[in-house]
Amino acid sequence: MINNKNKKIIISIDGYSSSGKSSLSKQLAEHFKYYYINTGDMYRGITLLAIRQKMFNSDLWNVTNFIHYLNNIHFTFKWNKKINEIETFLNNENIKNQIKSRQVTEKVSLLASIPEIREKLNVIQKKLVSIYKNGLLIEGRDIGTTIFPQAKIKIFMKGSTEIRSFRRYKELKKKGEKISYEKVKQNILYRDMLDISRKYSPLQKPIQNCIEIDNTYLSINKQFNIILQFIKNKLYT
Ligand code: DC
Repeated sequence: MINNKNKKIIISIDGYSSSGKSSLSKQLAEHFKYYYINTGDMYRGITLLAIRQKMFNSDLWNVTNFIHYLNNIHFTFKWNKKINEIETFLNNENIKNQIKSRQVTEKVSLLASIPEIREKLNVIQKKLVSIYKNGLLIEGRDIGTTIFPQAKIKIFMKGSTEIRSFRRYKELKKKGEKISYEKVKQNILYRDMLDISRKYSPLQKPIQNCIEIDNTYLSINKQFNIILQFIKNKLYT
């Protein structure tokens, strides 16, 4: 457990798509009783908003027509004990299921590459510091580099394209989706490419206070133990 002296700790978890960030976040949030935020869900929430406003139905799609919708939005994250999942709320509406839809998944990387949208979300994310009490666990692509470069503990996750695609494929199959492994792999390669090549806040390994985890051949338990050790060393030495 983390003692009082170390209150207000920020742990950032960045990394590639389907590299196990959310599973690890859940384990750490439970272990340390920290407030957990998934910034990927925020980008997905905004994409849902754009779809609902029919922004993609016109050839005149233009960020200036959309950006004002982001002026008064707010996100909250609540632990649903019954299903052992963290649920995301946009303006008090539970959007957990809608934001995982294929329609949102196909469009989210596009919106996440638009600087004006990232700037809006950056402001919202930075304000989150004031609402958590003990510690904050925050997951995304640019948390340790852009949003909270001051974070004392940073985790950067990766794994081979094949293992990440296979894990994602199994997850989708379990949900009953009809999709091939090849299609999942193509989507992961596409999202990796957009994440690392965008000009504004690309996915990068943070330089300081960071442990890199390649979990291609690592079990969930072993990974958890390595990270716990890293956190303890960082906090107590
Ligand atoms: O983690 P995820 O797959 O749910 O993220 C959805 C999309 O949002 C993905 O294309 C990467 C992007 N994203 C981002 O650009 N920056 C973040 N901090 C979080 C997610």
